[in-house]
Amino acid sequence: MKGKDTSYAARILREGGLVAIPTETVYGLAANALDSQAVLNIFKAKNRPSFDPLIVHCRNAAQAESYAAVFPEPMKKLAEKFWPGPLTLILPKTSAIPDVVSSGLPSAGFRVPNHPLTLALLQELEFPLAAPSANPFGYVSPTSAEHVEDQLKDKIDYILDGGSSPVGLESTIVGQLEDGQICILRYGGIPVEQIEEVVGPVVLRVASSASPLSPGQLDQHYAPHSTFIVCQTLQQALDMAESYQRCGLITPSPLPADKVLPASVQSHKVLSPSGHLDEAAQHLFAAIRSLDKGDFEAILAVKVADEGLGRAINDRLRRASHL
Ligand code: TXA
Ligand code: MG
Repeated sequence: MKGKDTSYAARILREGGLVAIPTETVYGLAANALDSQAVLNIFKAKNRPSFDPLIVHCRNAAQAESYAAVFPEPMKKLAEKFWPGPLTLILPKTSAIPDVVSSGLPSAGFRVPNHPLTLALLQELEFPLAAPSANPFGYVSPTSAEHVEDQLKDKIDYILDGGSSPVGLESTIVGQLEDGQICILRYGGIPVEQIEEVVGPVVLRVASSASPLSPGQLDQHYAPHSTFIVCQTLQQALDMAESYQRCGLITPSPLPADKVLPASVQSHKVLSPSGHLDEAAQHLFAAIRSLDKGDFEAILAVKVADEGLGRAINDRLRRASHL
């Protein structure tokens, strides 16, 4: 069942149930972060391995601070600047956050999401919400209540319907190395350049399966079922499309007047009619999901420039293409 009833959602969560919540990035699959049994049910519903830790969603920075054992100054500055918003901070946790939330790590991810319905829900609740993205493990994250319904309807108690997620990509994850340096663990809704404006130069530790720093960031994350190919340029994608009978195409902006779509391209998704990265990010996951239903031989996607939000977009394209 889905709807906009935050009081109903709060009642389910107090009883240890699961509720999908809208956020500005993607939808989350939430449970009481202080209730180990409820949190275990998130892992079951998603078929998520227990070594992949969850993010703790708080109503404000003060609540996050009450569950963080330490909140270093540079991390505080980032929280002040970007919360509520698409930023997750990895901080040492207090024992009030059960180990199942952090997959046994001494630290947990904290974030204040920026969505009116979910903020209202968090205000109503006495506890923070543990929530990963509300998709079966390994698949593309959901950016609408319908996406959640498509895949998890039978496994959760309620979907709080907050419309389409305006950012469309998961939060940027920021941690701190032992020597105090700030590091980026996942590209996301806040560009690295904006983080550096607040804390100075950062270290990039964006994970692949090989990295021990950010468990759960496996290469095949965000993968659709169809063969997914990332192309460096539009021309490369158009040339490649000629070798298929039926394919889908994703481009960040509309086709220039001098280019022609090969007949094999049976569905073309333009992520941003105006060619803006934030709009492209917003529409990316919905485009992948939609083409994945099309039974194409392949989905071809054209990269964007590797700067600003473009880094997060390209990161998700690369992961979607991992076989
Ligand atoms: O935008 C988002 O962050 C969304 C919405 C729902 O808030 N959530 C999300 O959660 O993307 P999820 O579970 O799909 O990704 C959480 C990732 C984990 O895979 C892991 O890489 C990282 O956060 N993480 C969580 N706790 C961590 C910790 N203690 N140390 C390092 N990485 C951690
Ligand atoms: Mg996820």
